[in-house]
Order: sequence, then structure tokens, then C-alpha cells
Amino acid sequence: MQTERLLPDQMGLARAAILLAGGAVVAIPTETVYGLAGDAKNGQAVARIYQAKGRPSFNPLIVHVPDLDTARTIADLSPEAERLAAAFWPGALTLVLPLRADAGIASLVTAGLPTVALRVPAHPVAQALLRLTGPLAAPSANASGRISPTSADHVLDPDGGLDGRIAAVLDAGSCPVGLESTIIGWPDGRATLLRPGGIPVEAIVDALGHPLDDHHADPAAPNAPGQLTSHYAPQAALRLNATDPAPGETHVAFGQAGPFTLSETGDLTQAAARLFDTLRRADREGRPIAVAPIPDHGLGAAINDRLRRAAAPRG
Ligand code: TXA
Ligand code: MG
Repeated sequence: MQTERLLPDQMGLARAAILLAGGAVVAIPTETVYGLAGDAKNGQAVARIYQAKGRPSFNPLIVHVPDLDTARTIADLSPEAERLAAAFWPGALTLVLPLRADAGIASLVTAGLPTVALRVPAHPVAQALLRLTGPLAAPSANASGRISPTSADHVLDPDGGLDGRIAAVLDAGSCPVGLESTIIGWPDGRATLLRPGGIPVEAIVDALGHPLDDHHADPAAPNAPGQLTSHYAPQAALRLNATDPAPGETHVAFGQAGPFTLSETGDLTQAAARLFDTLRRADREGRPIAVAPIPDHGLGAAINDRLRRAAAPRG
């Protein structure tokens, strides 16, 4: 298959919508990372997403919708869910909610679970596309186990990317947030952090007015996000909290200049936006990577979560 690279103009959006309506998969920009989108109501299209990613099919997907009203046709939102949606949608927040019986979402999307993960993306191109299509199921547009893509070039990376495996990529440049969405669910009735991400936990706690349960990344739970311990893996070995990079290592810095710095000024938002691209570039040096300590608050908590996964033993 020849993968089309589409511009994010009227023509490109119309072409992407036609491909999606025909059951094809198209990589699309969101403010977090690029998603590998398929029609969430078409089981065959959803199967093609798993096929293109080489992803274990027990891992459920996020459904992207243009607005809160559409979200309410797919899932039941509790008062707490409504409060978070009002505070952070459109944006980098995914809510895991009870799936409505009449939602019409292909069962493969939720891997048969009674819940569905929903997100209203803020990216103008994702917004414009979602208004031409129905709800789009989309995991991050990387092959399973690889670093999430924050540009169309990452999606098509000849080394492990999806070129030739998907119908098209809608190219809108770099993703402004650069980290996947924060995922909140209510697995036992209490608001729980399922994955740290682009919205800092502190902001969610502020909006809720009470603390969150924290049980993300439970490797024993097959349906919890991030169940694959090594998930954001570069090829190279990765050393964390490296205050003293050794001569043979590629140094990913923070708070100082350098060819692979996440932020010269120690800005966590900038570091998040640069994280995955920097890991890809550092990986191409072909040497072990040493990453400077990153403060563990705000977006730093999500950055450290991704770095720990990237450093985890490979399965
Ligand atoms: O920012 C993002 O979230 C990006 C963009 C494309 O929206 N998407 C993304 O998707 O990161 P993915 O598939 O790489 O991660 C989605 C996570 C998975 O870890 C999955 O287990 C979890 O969401 N998830 C989906 N549905 C779920 C459900 N019903 N219950 C629990 N977790 C769920
Ligand atoms: Mg992913």
C-alpha cells in the first residue's frame, strides 16, 4: 500500500474523510500525539488499526469525538465526569466511562469491556476532521512498543514506522503537547489516575476538589493502560537521573543547552513537547542514552512515567 501524505486543507480533510468512510486507517494529528484513526463504528476498520500497529488486540482504544454532546451519545457521564469534561475538553484528557448500550461502537474498540475511553481533542485539524466523520477510534500512530509519534515524519519513519501499512497521514506538523492524554477512570467508583499525561494531575485534582486514586501502570492488570512495561522503547539502553553523563553516552539534558536538550531553561511544557522527538534523535546516535533528572511535578510526572517505561527491561 502507498501511504498518502495529505495537507491539512479542505482537500486533504475531504480525502481523509473519504478514506475513513471506506474503512481505511489514517494517521491524524492531535494536540498530544498523532493517532491512527479508523471509523469507531466499523469493526473491520478497527481491526485494520490493530493490524497496522501489530498491537495485542486486548488493548482497548480511545474514541475521539468532536464535542461533549457527541460524547454523551456514547457513554454515561457522572457528575464528576461532567465536571472534568467541562474543565478540560477539548484537550488532553481521556475519560474511561460506562459504554451506552445504544452507542453503536464496534466491540473491538473496547475489547469487549463495559467501558469506553473518550476524548475530545483540541487540535483544529482533528476537530475539523471529526466534524466530517463519525467518532474515530485512534491509538497512538506508532508500531506497538515503539515511541509515540509527534510528527507525520515520525509516523512514516522508515525505521519502524507505518509507511506502507496505512492509507494516509494528515500532516499538520508537530504536536504542541507532545505527551499522550491523561487518562482518568472510575474503576471502583472513585476517580483514578489510569495514565499520567498532557494534563497535569494537579490541575485535575484542582477541578475535582479532592485527591485521585493512583493505580496506573499495574503490570498485572491486562486491561489497565500501560500494561506493557516496556512501552515507549528506543533501541538504545536508557539511563535515568543521569547527573554525570559518561563519555560514551548521548546526553539528554534538562535545564541546560545541548544538542539533545529537552529544555534549555528547564521548562516542563517545552520538555514534554520535545520528549519523543528528542528520544528518537538520541536513539539514532547508536549509543546508550543518559537522561538528566526531571522534576516530578506537573508535566514532569508524565515525562518521568514515559522515561521509566523507555528504560524498562525489554520483554
Ligand atoms: O493522547 C492520546 O491519548 C493519544 C491520542 C491519539 O488521542 N492516544 C493514545 O492511545 O495514547 P493509546 O491507544 O496509545 O493509549 C490508550 C490507552 C491504552 O493504554 C488503553 O489501555 C486505555 O487507553 N484504554 C482504552 N480504553 C480503555 C478502557 N475501556 N478501560 C481502561 N483503559 C482503556
Ligand atoms: Mg500508545
